[in-house]
Amino acid sequence: MSNICLVTGGAGFIGCAISPLLAKHFDRVIAVDNMHPQIHATASRPAALHEKVELVMGDVSQRETWDALLPGLKPDVVIHLAAETGTGQSLTEGSRHANVNVVGTTQMLDAFVRHDAIPRRVVLTSSRAVYGEGAWQDAQGRVSYPGQRSRAQLEAKQWDFPGLTCLPFESTRTEPRPTSIYGSTKYAQELILKAWALSFGVEVGLLRLQNVYGPGQSLSNPYTGIVSLFAQLARTGKVIPLYEDGEIVRDFVFIDDVASAVFRVTTGNIPSADAYDVGCGSGTTIRELAEIIASIYGAPAPVVNGAYRNGDVRAASADISRTQAELGWHPQWDVRKGVTALCAWIDGQL
Ligand SMILES: NC(=O)c1ccc[n+]([C@@H]2O[C@H](COP(=O)([O-])OP(=O)(O)OC[C@H]3O[C@@H](n4cnc5c(N)ncnc54)[C@H](O)[C@@H]3O)[C@@H](O)[C@H]2O)c1
Repeated sequence: MSNICLVTGGAGFIGCAISPLLAKHFDRVIAVDNMHPQIHATASRPAALHEKVELVMGDVSQRETWDALLPGLKPDVVIHLAAETGTGQSLTEGSRHANVNVVGTTQMLDAFVRHDAIPRRVVLTSSRAVYGEGAWQDAQGRVSYPGQRSRAQLEAKQWDFPGLTCLPFESTRTEPRPTSIYGSTKYAQELILKAWALSFGVEVGLLRLQNVYGPGQSLSNPYTGIVSLFAQLARTGKVIPLYEDGEIVRDFVFIDDVASAVFRVTTGNIPSADAYDVGCGSGTTIRELAEIIASIYGAPAPVVNGAYRNGDVRAASADISRTQAELGWHPQWDVRKGVTALCAWIDGQL
């Protein structure tokens, strides 16, 4: 059995974070990445990518990338990270997201067969975006799926679903109902990979990540990364604007905790084919997040500006109890500690 790990999108935020763990575990680690200009300020090799990782430039959605890469190579494990990740952006650039996320996945799987390079395991980092608004509960304990908030609701500032409370997402319980094109493409990735892998006897490791943040995230990508966006405003003394009424809930999970979860699914036993939810284990409102960041920098108090983004969900957090029990994985970073580490890193970058 080869001891080669192939990582698509391996030069990105999560790819760099897992690279030291992979470099230690595998004989060879190969990252294929097109160094997307929206993520990477320059096309040069990221300093955070472990020196042992072989970086190959290539676009996963192009057949030629795979035809150049795979002859003579049989990876044991593939970690599929390459993706277009702009949730809001995907509403108006849907083809771009579908091409990389959906066609990029099918091109990869086709190429494994074409080149007799079917791996033992494929790991996919899917997203909490597959749940959309998820399941909500009324005062009597009845669960329903309120679905996507319409433009009319948002214009009328009806942010919440009256009388309902959002339940944390858990893949064996919460039905996927994406409210964004990005979320739909991530769910399509899951379905495609599962169908293919079952037919070829390939193990699948599925993770649904909440909002990942921490040192190493792109500071130039305006479409992702609310934590770094808030930090960059606060450190220059600006007021952090809060969308809706500031009570949007997210589950902010620190990059080191995500790296350890991805590594476990890559190298350990995967007891279940169901996706593992990866978050910090509790929700934080964007107001709470902004107040932590403003206090770190001594910036003015955050201000609600009532703006909104179509397709944004009101509340998202994960129930990580099954992930913890089955993977033996436990997040080590709470939001205050993680945000403080991110701010210190940003201060050293800018
Ligand atoms: N960061 C998060 O909050 C988060 C949350 C949920 C899921 N995810 C998923 O995790 C994965 C990695 O996310 P990340 O935060 O490291 O993102 P990232 O944007 O930092 O990294 C993605 C990498 O993929 C590369 N890439 C983009 N298009 C490509 C293409 N066509 N061919 C080859 N490479 C390409 C980029 O250059 C980049 O290096 C993605 O699949 C994303 O959907 C991330």
